[in-house]
Amino acid sequence: MLQGKTIVLGISGGIAAYKAATICSRLVQAGAQVRVVMTASATKFISPLTLQTLSRHPVYLDTFDEFDPSVVAHIDLADSADLMLIAPATANILGKMANGLADDMLSTTLLAATAPVIVAPAMNVHMYAHPAVERNMAVLAERGVRFVEPGTGLLACGYVGKGRLSEPEEIVLAVQQWFASKTELEGKSVVVTAGGTVERLDPVRFLTNDSSGKMGFAIAEAAANRGANVTLIAARTTAPQVEGFNVVHVESAEQMLEAVLERYDSADIVIKAAAVADYRPVVQASSKIKKNEERLTIELERTTDILKTLGERKSHQFLVGFAAETEQVERYAMDKLVRKNADLIVANDVSKDGAGFNVDTNVVQVFGAEGLVESLPMLHKREVADRLMSRIVQRMQARAAGEAAK
Ligand code: CTP
Repeated sequence: MLQGKTIVLGISGGIAAYKAATICSRLVQAGAQVRVVMTASATKFISPLTLQTLSRHPVYLDTFDEFDPSVVAHIDLADSADLMLIAPATANILGKMANGLADDMLSTTLLAATAPVIVAPAMNVHMYAHPAVERNMAVLAERGVRFVEPGTGLLACGYVGKGRLSEPEEIVLAVQQWFASKTELEGKSVVVTAGGTVERLDPVRFLTNDSSGKMGFAIAEAAANRGANVTLIAARTTAPQVEGFNVVHVESAEQMLEAVLERYDSADIVIKAAAVADYRPVVQASSKIKKNEERLTIELERTTDILKTLGERKSHQFLVGFAAETEQVERYAMDKLVRKNADLIVANDVSKDGAGFNVDTNVVQVFGAEGLVESLPMLHKREVADRLMSRIVQRMQARAAGEAAK
């Protein structure tokens, strides 16, 4: 499964460094080329000779270990990576990565690498829960770094709690799943909508909502990471631009409807993460509205429900909607699923801390025809997007297998 892949395994200095030998061995057995970088502290826990023998390559220890004069070692190593795996990752290396420090071979190689990064943290329970470490991990997650969460149990320092390096088998599985996911949606067209629509009153004023578009951008990125051909239809958004998919900019619900319908027949998956206005001004003044009267009444009319329209015209598409609620989440989510003929509804209680509009995290529950499918804890929107995409792929594969069996 890992044949032909080069994995740079970074080992930092915690007691769990001894487990890196098993990780290295399993990756090599699975066919990967493993190039190991160790920090000075890591060498206090495990001998570089062990890793050299298991990886069958020299181990990089110092930025100035230039084994091959025709290249610069840390750049060559960074460029060779299909994936950077840091296991175990100490609080120190997480801090350096988050802040862009490069004072040894591992941190310098990480800074020079453009390959994706998977990190398996391991440290004392209080260190793991320290606000500085939490912040660093949040910064890295925002940048697209993936985490294999530590386990809970007896730690080498004597504490019982969260911080134990995930088992080598789980880490290797995460690596294999990451490579497998790269092609899961190859040949599929995915349309994602994001942001809050803008309904104009006059040339300088409009009605909109608090949506930042971050959830939709994260979903588009997660789909593109799985090899899909992705179009993101974005209304008003403050999410940073991401490469890897086409972005079509629209303003109003009507423009969004048009842009989605244009692509609907050829789409395999449509995910409606946008916060679409339910009403728009009946009249859009062509010039700025002057303040002539003491009171001004603006008459609003319903917009078209895009998701419902898509649900009515659904043939082969997998349709996912969102439901932003402040109460009775399950009831309203299931009602939307049925009413709009969606395959999944991703619901969140926007009144909860860390959920909904304008924050980097979300707390969602995913509903399908059978009811609650998955309830996710508070996660970074990128992680929510990734888990949602896995769920969609799983359901589409099950559907395809069911059709093939008919
Ligand atoms: N939606 C849509 N077109 C609209 C309104 C909503 O496509 N005109 C989509 C949203 O993109 C989302 C889902 O419908 O995927 C649910 O949106 P939400 O605002 O929660 O639901 P509404 O149908 O507007 O219901 P209500 O406002 O009564 O809760």
